Amino acid sequence: MRLLFLGDLVGRSGRNVVIDRLPGLVERWRLDFVAVNGENAAGGFGITEEICQDVIDAGADAVTLGNHSWDQREALVFITRQDRLLRPVNYPRGTPGRGAHLYTARNGANVLVMNVMGRIYMDALDDPFAAVGRELDACPLGQVADAIIIDMHAEATSEKQAMGHFADGRASLVVGTHTHVPTADHQILEGGTAYMSDAGMCGDYDGVLGMEKEEPLRRFTTKIPSGRFTASLGEATLCGVAVETDDATGLAINVAPVRIGGRLSQALPDFW
Ligand SMILES: [Fe+2]
Ligand SMILES: [Fe+2]
Repeated sequence: MRLLFLGDLVGRSGRNVVIDRLPGLVERWRLDFVAVNGENAAGGFGITEEICQDVIDAGADAVTLGNHSWDQREALVFITRQDRLLRPVNYPRGTPGRGAHLYTARNGANVLVMNVMGRIYMDALDDPFAAVGRELDACPLGQVADAIIIDMHAEATSEKQAMGHFADGRASLVVGTHTHVPTADHQILEGGTAYMSDAGMCGDYDGVLGMEKEEPLRRFTTKIPSGRFTASLGEATLCGVAVETDDATGLAINVAPVRIGGRLSQALPDFW
């Protein structure tokens, strides 16, 4: 199977690069399944129902979230009727929506997508490892699921790497999100799981984490907040990771970074 995961869409530039480019990528690469992190899609803060639908219409089969899940309050409501939207699986019991779901891919296969949040330098949440372990036990790769994608939304690379090894051999891909900067450590782990510490953001890299740089700079240099953070509107780079899996086992055969457009060096998978 051919899977594409895209990192945090930030604001209008991030949305536009995905909405403009994703339909072409789905066709050109004959993608079976696409997951996208949408926690910053609405001006950098959360996601609205309209934006979520636009991203789905562009080709996203699943949209994951993170610590910004509820910045747009309407997400608490529409997530209950939009099963393509996932929030972290280790939120407290009773949180609206779901953190994992089994989807039907374009080729008819079953793809489990999971969104989980780390706890290092993040909110105190339920144990992400126990939560992922439960979901993997309930939906084993190669038996119930033909592919499994885990979006590990976390600050600390150590925690992300540990999650990669924890799920190694039981997931097709463990990919980090949240830092908004792509890492160069994409690899297939010993047990066959594709791994990348952070997919990077889909957004304008001439800023601070996708935001206009003036206000963050002011806050760092003066410690006085004097305005709001606004999403940077320059040309965005679409960032993510491409994975090809074995149809029988669901494990990864190939993994490559994807960077298209904008300021970053360009990267495309050479196996498609
Ligand atoms: Fe983010
Ligand atoms: Fe985040």
